[in-house]
Amino acid sequence: MTGLSGSGKSTIAIALERALHERGRFCVVLDGDNVRTGINSNLGFSDTDRTENIRRIAEVAKLFVQQGVIVICCFVSPTIAIREQAKAIIGATDFHEVFIDTPLEVCEQRDVKGLYAKARAGEVKDFTGISAPFEAPPSPAIRIATAGRSEQDSANELLNFIQPRITRN
Ligand code: ADX
Repeated sequence: MTGLSGSGKSTIAIALERALHERGRFCVVLDGDNVRTGINSNLGFSDTDRTENIRRIAEVAKLFVQQGVIVICCFVSPTIAIREQAKAIIGATDFHEVFIDTPLEVCEQRDVKGLYAKARAGEVKDFTGISAPFEAPPSPAIRIATAGRSEQDSANELLNFIQPRITRN
Protein backbone atom coordinates (compact mmCIF):
# COMPACT_ATOMS: atom_id res chain seq x y z
CA MET A 1 0.00 0.00 0.00
CA THR A 2 1.22 3.43 -0.88
CA GLY A 3 -0.14 6.74 0.36
CA LEU A 4 0.64 9.77 2.44
CA SER A 5 1.43 9.58 6.13
CA GLY A 6 -1.90 9.43 7.96
CA SER A 7 -3.77 8.26 4.87
CA GLY A 8 -5.01 5.16 6.70
CA LYS A 9 -2.72 2.47 5.29
CA SER A 10 -1.98 0.65 8.55
CA THR A 11 -5.54 0.95 9.85
CA ILE A 12 -6.96 -0.57 6.67
CA ALA A 13 -4.21 -3.20 6.67
CA ILE A 14 -5.09 -4.36 10.18
CA ALA A 15 -8.80 -4.62 9.28
CA LEU A 16 -7.87 -6.56 6.13
CA GLU A 17 -5.54 -8.84 8.09
CA ARG A 18 -8.35 -9.63 10.54
CA ALA A 19 -10.78 -10.39 7.72
CA LEU A 20 -8.27 -12.69 6.02
CA HIS A 21 -7.49 -14.48 9.28
CA GLU A 22 -11.22 -15.08 9.77
CA ARG A 23 -11.18 -16.71 6.32
CA GLY A 24 -8.34 -19.00 7.31
CA ARG A 25 -5.54 -17.14 5.54
CA PHE A 26 -2.21 -16.42 7.15
CA CYS A 27 -0.92 -12.91 6.60
CA VAL A 28 1.45 -10.42 8.14
CA VAL A 29 1.42 -6.64 8.18
CA LEU A 30 4.67 -4.75 7.66
CA ASP A 31 4.59 -1.02 8.37
CA GLY A 32 6.77 1.80 9.62
CA ASP A 33 6.00 0.91 13.22
CA ASN A 34 7.48 -2.56 13.06
CA VAL A 35 10.12 -2.07 10.36
CA ARG A 36 11.61 1.39 10.93
CA THR A 37 12.02 0.67 14.65
CA GLY A 38 13.88 -2.58 13.98
CA ILE A 39 15.49 -3.89 10.83
CA ASN A 40 15.54 -0.41 9.23
CA SER A 41 16.26 1.66 12.32
CA ASN A 42 19.44 3.01 10.73
CA LEU A 43 17.51 4.66 7.87
CA GLY A 44 16.09 8.17 7.59
CA PHE A 45 13.98 9.91 4.97
CA SER A 46 16.42 10.98 2.27
CA ASP A 47 15.61 9.60 -1.16
CA THR A 48 18.51 7.14 -0.82
CA ASP A 49 17.34 5.93 2.60
CA ARG A 50 13.71 5.57 1.50
CA THR A 51 14.89 3.55 -1.50
CA GLU A 52 16.91 1.27 0.79
CA ASN A 53 13.98 1.07 3.24
CA ILE A 54 11.67 -0.22 0.53
CA ARG A 55 14.33 -2.48 -1.00
CA ARG A 56 14.83 -4.31 2.30
CA ILE A 57 11.09 -4.51 2.92
CA ALA A 58 10.52 -5.96 -0.54
CA GLU A 59 13.22 -8.57 0.06
CA VAL A 60 11.63 -9.52 3.40
CA ALA A 61 8.18 -9.62 1.81
CA LYS A 62 9.51 -11.88 -0.93
CA LEU A 63 10.82 -14.37 1.65
CA PHE A 64 7.36 -14.52 3.23
CA VAL A 65 5.62 -14.80 -0.13
CA GLN A 66 7.86 -17.72 -1.07
CA GLN A 67 6.45 -19.49 2.00
CA GLY A 68 2.88 -18.80 0.90
CA VAL A 69 2.24 -15.95 3.32
CA ILE A 70 0.18 -12.91 2.32
CA VAL A 71 2.19 -9.80 3.15
CA ILE A 72 0.40 -6.49 3.56
CA CYS A 73 3.01 -3.75 3.25
CA CYS A 74 2.08 -0.22 4.35
CA PHE A 75 4.69 2.28 3.35
CA VAL A 76 4.56 5.81 2.02
CA SER A 77 6.87 4.61 -0.79
CA PRO A 78 6.57 8.07 -2.34
CA THR A 79 7.98 7.65 -5.84
CA ILE A 80 7.14 5.61 -8.89
CA ALA A 81 10.76 4.40 -9.01
CA ILE A 82 10.68 3.13 -5.41
CA ARG A 83 7.47 1.18 -6.04
CA GLU A 84 8.81 -0.18 -9.33
CA GLN A 85 11.83 -1.46 -7.42
CA ALA A 86 9.56 -3.30 -4.99
CA LYS A 87 7.57 -4.80 -7.86
CA ALA A 88 10.78 -5.96 -9.57
CA ILE A 89 12.01 -7.66 -6.37
CA ILE A 90 8.72 -9.33 -5.45
CA GLY A 91 7.69 -10.14 -9.01
CA ALA A 92 4.78 -8.64 -10.91
CA THR A 93 2.48 -11.63 -10.30
CA ASP A 94 2.69 -11.36 -6.52
CA PHE A 95 2.75 -7.56 -6.27
CA HIS A 96 -0.52 -5.61 -6.08
CA GLU A 97 -0.11 -1.86 -5.86
CA VAL A 98 -2.80 -0.41 -3.60
CA PHE A 99 -3.12 3.36 -3.51
CA ILE A 100 -4.70 4.64 -0.31
CA ASP A 101 -5.85 7.91 -1.77
CA THR A 102 -6.51 10.38 1.02
CA PRO A 103 -6.06 14.06 0.18
CA LEU A 104 -3.20 15.88 1.87
CA GLU A 105 -5.68 18.25 3.55
CA VAL A 106 -7.46 15.33 5.20
CA CYS A 107 -4.19 13.69 6.35
CA GLU A 108 -3.01 17.00 7.70
CA GLN A 109 -6.29 17.60 9.51
CA ARG A 110 -6.09 14.14 11.12
CA ASP A 111 -2.39 14.62 11.95
CA VAL A 112 -2.49 11.53 14.15
CA LYS A 113 1.22 11.70 15.01
CA GLY A 114 1.52 15.51 15.05
CA LEU A 115 4.12 15.32 12.30
CA TYR A 116 2.35 17.59 9.79
CA ALA A 117 2.36 20.42 12.32
CA LYS A 118 6.06 19.83 12.93
CA ALA A 119 6.75 19.67 9.19
CA ARG A 120 4.91 22.96 8.64
CA ALA A 121 6.98 24.48 11.45
CA GLY A 122 10.15 23.24 9.77
CA GLU A 123 10.93 20.90 12.66
CA VAL A 124 10.71 17.78 10.49
CA LYS A 125 12.64 17.96 7.24
CA ASP A 126 11.76 16.26 3.95
CA PHE A 127 8.24 15.44 5.06
CA THR A 128 6.21 13.74 2.35
CA GLY A 129 3.51 15.99 0.95
CA ILE A 130 4.93 19.11 2.63
CA SER A 131 8.61 19.35 1.83
CA ALA A 132 9.22 16.11 -0.05
CA PRO A 133 7.37 14.76 -3.08
CA PHE A 134 4.62 12.18 -3.30
CA GLU A 135 4.08 10.76 -6.78
CA ALA A 136 0.61 9.26 -6.93
CA PRO A 137 0.56 5.96 -8.81
CA PRO A 138 -0.70 6.57 -12.36
CA SER A 139 -2.23 3.10 -12.64
CA PRO A 140 -2.47 1.28 -9.32
CA ALA A 141 -4.06 -2.16 -9.14
CA ILE A 142 -6.70 -0.51 -6.97
CA ARG A 143 -7.27 2.97 -5.59
CA ILE A 144 -9.04 3.19 -2.25
CA ALA A 145 -10.48 6.56 -1.36
CA THR A 146 -10.93 7.01 2.37
CA ALA A 147 -12.19 10.57 2.92
CA GLY A 148 -15.68 10.55 4.42
CA ARG A 149 -15.78 6.76 4.68
CA SER A 150 -15.42 4.29 7.50
CA GLU A 151 -12.22 2.28 7.82
CA GLN A 152 -14.28 -0.90 7.60
CA ASP A 153 -15.85 0.20 4.33
CA SER A 154 -12.43 0.89 2.79
CA ALA A 155 -11.09 -2.42 4.11
CA ASN A 156 -14.07 -4.31 2.65
CA GLU A 157 -13.44 -2.79 -0.76
CA LEU A 158 -9.84 -3.95 -0.59
CA LEU A 159 -10.86 -7.40 0.66
CA ASN A 160 -13.23 -7.85 -2.30
CA PHE A 161 -10.47 -6.82 -4.68
CA ILE A 162 -7.74 -8.97 -3.20
CA GLN A 163 -9.59 -12.20 -2.45
CA PRO A 164 -9.75 -13.55 -6.01
CA ARG A 165 -6.11 -12.59 -6.51
CA ILE A 166 -4.78 -14.60 -3.57
CA THR A 167 -6.71 -17.79 -4.18
CA ARG A 168 -4.66 -20.90 -3.51
CA ASN A 169 -3.83 -23.06 -6.53
S1 ADX B 1 9.00 5.65 3.11
O1 ADX B 1 8.94 6.95 2.42
O2 ADX B 1 10.38 5.22 3.35
O3 ADX B 1 8.19 4.62 2.46
P1 ADX B 1 7.76 4.88 5.61
O4 ADX B 1 6.42 4.45 5.19
O5 ADX B 1 8.78 3.83 5.91
O6 ADX B 1 8.33 5.95 4.54
O7 ADX B 1 7.64 5.79 6.93
C1 ADX B 1 6.71 6.84 6.95
C2 ADX B 1 6.31 7.18 8.37
O8 ADX B 1 7.44 7.72 9.06
C3 ADX B 1 5.25 8.26 8.37
O9 ADX B 1 3.96 7.74 8.48
C4 ADX B 1 5.62 9.09 9.58
O10 ADX B 1 4.98 8.58 10.72
C5 ADX B 1 7.09 8.89 9.77
N1 ADX B 1 7.95 9.98 9.25
C6 ADX B 1 8.90 10.61 9.98
N2 ADX B 1 9.55 11.50 9.24
C7 ADX B 1 9.01 11.47 7.99
C8 ADX B 1 9.27 12.17 6.78
N3 ADX B 1 10.22 13.10 6.69
N4 ADX B 1 8.50 11.90 5.67
C9 ADX B 1 7.55 10.96 5.77
N5 ADX B 1 7.26 10.25 6.88
C10 ADX B 1 7.98 10.50 8.00
